[in-house]
Amino acid sequence: MYVCNCKGLRESQVRDAVQLGARRVSHVFHACGEKPQCARCVRRMAALIRAEQPQERRDRTELSA
Ligand code: FES
Repeated sequence: MYVCNCKGLRESQVRDAVQLGARRVSHVFHACGEKPQCARCVRRMAALIRAEQPQERRDRTELSA
């Protein structure tokens, strides 16, 4: 399924980018060699990044919020 329609980025690409260390939407675009266009995908992509992060990292993020 596509996460970013403008650039044709799929969920699998976002997951791969997170596995390689992407922690922000900008990191995912960079890892995919793209730049955001309309930014409508940002919230969905950020949620996917959070969901794909290792549990330990998610715990730290929630504690610091
Ligand atoms: S949908 Fe991702 S930049 Fe437009």
